Amino acid sequence: MITMDNFIFDGHPLLRTMIKEVMIPLSDVDKKLMFDMVEYLKNSQNPRLARRLKLREGIGLAAPQLGIDKRIFAIYATDEAGVQHQYVLANPKVVSHSEELTYLPQGEGCLSVKRNIKGIVPRYRRVRIVGYDINNELVEIRAKGFIAIVFQHEIDHLNGKMFYDYINPNNPMMPPMGSVPVD
Ligand code: NI
Repeated sequence: MITMDNFIFDGHPLLRTMIKEVMIPLSDVDKKLMFDMVEYLKNSQNPRLARRLKLREGIGLAAPQLGIDKRIFAIYATDEAGVQHQYVLANPKVVSHSEELTYLPQGEGCLSVKRNIKGIVPRYRRVRIVGYDINNELVEIRAKGFIAIVFQHEIDHLNGKMFYDYINPNNPMMPPMGSVPVD
């Protein structure tokens, strides 16, 4: 079971590394990792379990955050309409995105960043992603709004990028031109 002891934190070089693709078909080790990553997110959102296991609540998790050099991430999150989403993908790619931008008015956070960093993170409002699921099927996902933001945050972890890289240092709370916030 993954706990906070498995995490690496901001400043660790793996969080600034271009992460390696995994072999398809997935190994049993990689499938177990994918299962465990979703399990962490679910456990972290269960208040009693989270308190007992000292888990920080998360909605997305990328393998490099666990010190693992593999292009794998998991998402377990509820969208603006209250719909639950669960994804766990290997070798994901953004194949297209909207021109239109969006952002979370409250900014973003990250399980690998202990401090609270204020500022608007511009994201594409819609993204189309392909990747391999736990059954080695190549799947295509269209995401918008909040879930699109979560996908972009997690894919960035596979490319050595952190959410705060995008905050305008001169005007951190200024929304991007023509963008629509997630409510
Ligand atoms: Ni993160």
